[in-house]
Amino acid sequence: MRVFNFSPGPAVLPLEVLEQARDELLDWQHSGMSVMEISHRSKAFLQVASEAEADLRDLLSIPRNYKVLFMQGGASAQFSLVPLNLATPQSTVDYVNTGHWSHRAIAEAGRYCKVHVAGDAGDDYTRVPPQSELRLSADAAYAHYTPNETIGGVEFGYVPDTRRVPLVADMSSSILSRPIDVSKFGLIYAGSQKNIGPSGLVVAIVRDDLIGHARSETPRVFDYKAIADNQSMLNTPPTFAWYMAGLVFKWLKRAGGLAAVGERNRVKAQTLYAAVDASQLYKNTVAKDARSWMNVTFALNKPELDATFLTEAAAAGLHGLKGHRVSGGMRASIYNAMPLAGVEALIAFMREFERKHA
Ligand SMILES: Cc1ncc(COP(=O)(O)O)c(C=O)c1O
Repeated sequence: MRVFNFSPGPAVLPLEVLEQARDELLDWQHSGMSVMEISHRSKAFLQVASEAEADLRDLLSIPRNYKVLFMQGGASAQFSLVPLNLATPQSTVDYVNTGHWSHRAIAEAGRYCKVHVAGDAGDDYTRVPPQSELRLSADAAYAHYTPNETIGGVEFGYVPDTRRVPLVADMSSSILSRPIDVSKFGLIYAGSQKNIGPSGLVVAIVRDDLIGHARSETPRVFDYKAIADNQSMLNTPPTFAWYMAGLVFKWLKRAGGLAAVGERNRVKAQTLYAAVDASQLYKNTVAKDARSWMNVTFALNKPELDATFLTEAAAAGLHGLKGHRVSGGMRASIYNAMPLAGVEALIAFMREFERKHA
């Protein structure tokens, strides 16, 4: 029996997609082989790869002057690859710090260039600095931020205006959750294991003028130009993850595209926050205008009940609710593939748990 899986990533995948993958696992397109067992250079796989790119371009309305790269190394590799591809050792690069993942990106960039922290959410990471608080450098090689902090459950309600400085975004936990205007960004990257598909891929969407400046010491497999020139097939890509991402993109298109999906996500998040706010037992401390649509964090006023909450939730078919080890408490990750029914089941459980333990 399938449970409702609130894990932060790898995360729930659409049931329809899993069923399709299961049905064609052993004999893909009458080839007598699994899609995992064929050459990435075969005509059939090249079709999978290009369709996935075309569908992603369609979903996000990616302008023609952007390349879509299917890479490896996860979002963590991009923490290094962004400075290696976009900046020199002398460059200043701006970073906005809103939590765990921006902090990690800052630490890594500091190994390659001069980091200027252009905005900081403070120690408890429960808010997003408004545009008026950002102290951006006019001559930065790029400005980096994390639109959605997966651990803190903090999300930007706006896209920073960095003027002529290319804006770089780690969209690992928010890509495809609602429509965005790609033309505002120089580079978007996202690990696949939340809204894209299984782990193993990282998608980078890069504006053409930012490609071709990698430092000479950049490994060729991580040079955006080499990857773009080779249609992300410089070496063997994670073919199964790519195929699965393609199925997810088609599922999103069938669901009505990102406007429809975004509206569903807004309703899911608002319903859950409203239930948390209405209760005496649970609380969310994130500023209201910075509450994440994808990762809803909450703590119990009686932390001694945490373990019981998790055990009883699991028994009720609600999994993956434990907060990150650095922040504690609870976190319900409600990515695209989490249906409203899952959120409603969680709320019903939370109410009953509160009634029992009040
Ligand atoms: C916002 C964000 N950035 C980066 C990462 C790191 O991703 P990866 O494990 O793919 O390196 C994560 C992982 O959860 C994340 O949520």
